Amino acid sequence: MKTVRLGLLGGGTVGTGVARIIETHQEEIAQRLGANLQLTGALVSDLSKPRDPVLSALPLTTNGDELVVRGDVDIVVEVMGGTTDARLLVERALRTGKPVVTANKALLATHGEPLFQLAAETGLDLAFEASVGGGIPVIRSIREALASDRLTQITGILNGTSNYVLTQMTRGSSQIAEVIADAQRLGYAEADPSMDVDGIDAAQKLSILALLGFGLRVPFDSVPTTGLSSLEAVDFELAAQFGGTLKPLAIAVRNSEGLYCEVTPAWVPESSLLSHVNDAFNAVYMEGEALGPSLLYGRGAGSLPTAVSVVSDVIEVARNLLRGSDSPAPSFSFGSGHCTRAADAEMEQFVRLQVADEPGVLASVATALGQRGISVHQVIQFPVEWSEGAILGLTTHPCSRAGLLEALKELENPNGAVKKALALPALRSNA
Ligand code: NAP
Ligand code: HSE
Repeated sequence: MKTVRLGLLGGGTVGTGVARIIETHQEEIAQRLGANLQLTGALVSDLSKPRDPVLSALPLTTNGDELVVRGDVDIVVEVMGGTTDARLLVERALRTGKPVVTANKALLATHGEPLFQLAAETGLDLAFEASVGGGIPVIRSIREALASDRLTQITGILNGTSNYVLTQMTRGSSQIAEVIADAQRLGYAEADPSMDVDGIDAAQKLSILALLGFGLRVPFDSVPTTGLSSLEAVDFELAAQFGGTLKPLAIAVRNSEGLYCEVTPAWVPESSLLSHVNDAFNAVYMEGEALGPSLLYGRGAGSLPTAVSVVSDVIEVARNLLRGSDSPAPSFSFGSGHCTRAADAEMEQFVRLQVADEPGVLASVATALGQRGISVHQVIQFPVEWSEGAILGLTTHPCSRAGLLEALKELENPNGAVKKALALPALRSNA
């Protein structure tokens, strides 16, 4: 039986999972591929670090340039993270005629265009299933299974760490630093966990999905992003009083203007499927004009779940190598390229206002909203122990997101009646 040899760039959380799956599932992989997979070397930055035996058994190196061009490497597997060294090594691999599998959404969201261009020019695979949704096959689903439909929406819980943190906060934990440290220990978090909790990781994933699903280039740093630090304990109480919970969502919705994108915690009703997606699990809700709603759910982070996507990509790429053909579907074949970007979307919204408990406050809020045609759906007010003021929570009927944010900006004033304001999308769709 033939052997396909792999050079592993990175021997951390995901790299260890990759080595573990290749070792423990080798029989099934050999049957499905018709060849053996063999890791012939791994790049790390510190040779003296203690490692899992599946990795320490491999020839380890700190010289990535040499590893990717070695004669005993057929496919390069990039699970090192970062955008500088990773870009150089992926480019070097492709220029040397080696297909690449990557889990690195930061790399693709930052340098995807030239890398996919290079892959197309060299006729080599650049596979990236693990870059979005960890172990959930979201890239394959959009690129292949839904290739005949026209998507109208992709709304997902795309960051496992943020979902883990929000789940713990919903359960009453106030020790956010400890919860984040737990997520790091469990292998969910990025090397810099602010990428997770500030929504940047989810924006990078959304940018990849927007290109795949809608053919629209959405630079990740142009996506309006609200991090978890904007939330306060009272938001979870309000969310529950309105019959729902808060989830970290990445939203891409097509409307008459184009595609509206946002990454933000959002209110979802108890009746929705997304409200039951907890801990580090991810879910991707999609709507297609022909299919209607569909939902993918599973582990979105962690060593083995992510490694499943990486090794499955390796199997697909190895099949192409053995057959001597290109990828069955070019990386971004699905995008129509005709979609534009929408600056606003009509949606129901969840609002928390920290207000002075005095006459006229409700009227000033109602006026600012009314002037912009924003209609209130539900209101709750309760006093707060820690100040002389009150918390005013409300939900709206569908209205302009930009209009609501503008109204709150006008109202918000630390010395005025509305001291602090937060507006989050409220999801009432089938999701
Ligand atoms: P990690 O645990 O920090 O591992 C990174 C590995 O790469 C380490 O072995 C590190 O070496 C090595 N490395 C990093 N930069 C290097 C450099 N410049 N030169 C040589 N070696 C270098 O990260 P991870 O969690 O496995 O994540 C890897 C990638 O997968 C990232 O792009 C991440 O976004 C993505 N991803 C992660 C998950 C997840 O759940 N963790 C899920 C999906 C996608 P040392 O071991 O010597 O430090
Ligand atoms: N840090 C990422 C997350 C890893 O928490 O979702 C998976 O991409």
